[in-house]
Amino acid sequence: MDALKRAAAERAAEWIEDGMLLGLGTGSTVRFLLEILGSGLKDGRWANLRAVSTSDDTTRRATELDIPLVRLGRHRLDLTIDGADEVDEDLDLIKGLGGALLREKVVASRSDRLVIMVDATKRVERLGTKGPLPVEVDPYSAEACAERIIEIGAEPRLREKDGSVFVTDGGHHVLDCHFEGGIPDPIGLDVTLSGTPGVLEHGLFIGMASAVVVAGGGGVRVLEQEGGAP
Ligand code: A5P
Repeated sequence: MDALKRAAAERAAEWIEDGMLLGLGTGSTVRFLLEILGSGLKDGRWANLRAVSTSDDTTRRATELDIPLVRLGRHRLDLTIDGADEVDEDLDLIKGLGGALLREKVVASRSDRLVIMVDATKRVERLGTKGPLPVEVDPYSAEACAERIIEIGAEPRLREKDGSVFVTDGGHHVLDCHFEGGIPDPIGLDVTLSGTPGVLEHGLFIGMASAVVVAGGGGVRVLEQEGGAP
């Protein structure tokens, strides 16, 4: 699996150009990208790159690799490269099993292009069939949000880590929402969740990916949104 993740990261790195302001996602596939980026900056493959990180974990790793970071601030980014948990036929995504979905979505939304790297096991016909949809919530409102999500027809579970409630980098909680048979209407759910008070963000990334790099046994393929990627 690591070989596939590395292969996907190597292909995604081909989109990086000198002088770019780059968004760096979060997760185990992104870790390979960071290594490629760190060594590419050292050996002169790229120059004048700056990057925006989406999590404390990515910030720590990028700093160790001497990747120059800047705050998101008011910047617009040229390109963001990130992983995903599920990808469907329309290149819509579920993200957030790593818990960085809010910052990942903000950074992606400020980027001209979003390139996603996955191994082939993450491709699905219907989102929500392989795993839950992470929903980031205000801790005060977590139970109220969970009740609303039950009304919608899903089963929310408050995420835990090492026996305690999981807390995001922003100090929020995550409800992992299980949909029996997958999510029937991701666009409708996006609207409903975004309109639910207490929900800070959710892991549906609809119409955001410009391209998805898929690494599988047969090699690396690039799936592109029309007009999305060079
Ligand atoms: C982090 O919050 C997530 O959105 C990750 O991008 C996603 O979980 C993919 O992670 P891996 O590359 O570790 O599978």
